[in-house]
Amino acid sequence: MTKSIKQFVCQSCGSNYSRWIGKCKQCNEWNTLVENNNYRPSGALSKSKGKKINFEKLDNVNYDYSRIKTNINELDRVLGGGFVLGSVTLIGGDPGIGKSTLLLQLVGNLAYQKEKCIYISGEESLSQIKMRADRLGIKSNDIEFASVTNASDIAITINSNRKKCILVIDSIQTMYLPELDSSPGTVSQIRASAHELIIAAKKTDTILILVGHLTKDGAIAGPKVLEHMVDAVLYFEGDNNLQYRILRSFKNRFGANNEIGVFEMMNNGLKEIVNPSAIFLSERQKNISGTAIFSGLEGTRPILVEIQALVTHSTLGTPRRIIVGWDISRLSMLCAVLEARCKIHLSNMDIFLNVAGGIRLFEPAADLAVAAAIISSVKNIPLSFNSIFFGEIGLSGEIRKVTQPELRIREASKLGFNKIYLPTKQKVIINKDMSYNTLAVLKDLVNLIIKDNKD
Ligand code: TYD
Ligand code: MG
Repeated sequence: MTKSIKQFVCQSCGSNYSRWIGKCKQCNEWNTLVENNNYRPSGALSKSKGKKINFEKLDNVNYDYSRIKTNINELDRVLGGGFVLGSVTLIGGDPGIGKSTLLLQLVGNLAYQKEKCIYISGEESLSQIKMRADRLGIKSNDIEFASVTNASDIAITINSNRKKCILVIDSIQTMYLPELDSSPGTVSQIRASAHELIIAAKKTDTILILVGHLTKDGAIAGPKVLEHMVDAVLYFEGDNNLQYRILRSFKNRFGANNEIGVFEMMNNGLKEIVNPSAIFLSERQKNISGTAIFSGLEGTRPILVEIQALVTHSTLGTPRRIIVGWDISRLSMLCAVLEARCKIHLSNMDIFLNVAGGIRLFEPAADLAVAAAIISSVKNIPLSFNSIFFGEIGLSGEIRKVTQPELRIREASKLGFNKIYLPTKQKVIINKDMSYNTLAVLKDLVNLIIKDNKD
């Protein structure tokens, strides 16, 4: 017996409720709940209409995951070496960040390598696409373009093609299936259209690339299940006002997570940045307090970034904590440790923290560099220009080990840094021309910074 239960689904974010309410508690949108009858099986094996399944031994299973390289090296790295045949990739990002530009450049490159490419836009007209292609200098005659939004039509076209190709859908939120009554952009339309397109793509070994919009909170709009349905989810990040763009793999069934590719938006499209550390550090100034260099790891790639802190007396009852590129709760924790373990008083101070270059840091290993920048600003002592920091800070003020120290040190040494601040417990192969300051607790860092200033 199956039992029907009433369920209400928010058409904006996909949250479920057992009764109707006017405002979704998750995304705060009004009037977005729609009734959806869901069937809940009760009593297994009862009157099920299923059939017995056949199992396989993995020894009898063959696979051919050959990849197609795009020759945009930064993108190939994020993908783990190019697109895998039959894979589905979802690219999310804020409006105007450069998703359409990247994908047009991508099909331009692949068409040049004689791959069959189809570019379908539900957002722009063909003349708009042509204008962009001209701007990017793409020879577009080998690419098939269409401006359609009906996902069934696209699926049928792909299926009848029966040849491997690269299919770009810009964007999944504009696609719809005419069989469903809801309008494009709703959860059910997004889910159903994506499902239809994915099935067609997998059947024909098509490389499917979907563009996804972001919600206010920075997640891909529509059901979370969309991220589960695809093989890779990439986010295109960066500040719209800065020209640097970072493509980050959030999920990748064929490569590493958190791998990043760095681009610069130019007049004629996105240009790859081969040595991002040098770019992120290019505007550093000497003898300024409140900046520290962190040797971070993004996926498998080491990257040096500058962390800037400005600590000033607050005129407000609750001091401000303004932060760009790092986690606010992590900063609160760090401030508490600095207060409690190092007697650095921050409770009446405003703290502004910025990771230069528009990159976002997720690693706990950045704690030590952030702490160094804050201490340097509070004490008004510039840190030595050629020093780098990495280490995680625990609540008792202890400095903990991080992963892959050698990789971090090698990148730093390449760019001329020779003074490393790192956890005591970290085992590293010592490089003779470098000086190492090992730290057991955060207090050691404060003492070292003061001592270095006196020397
Ligand atoms: P776009 O690819 O349309 O962004 P998305 O598809 O993510 O919404 O990028 C548009 C922005 O990029 C727009 O503000 C103009 C800028 N741009 C350049 O600076 N140079 C270029 O060559 C192109 C094509 C766009
Ligand atoms: Mg676009």
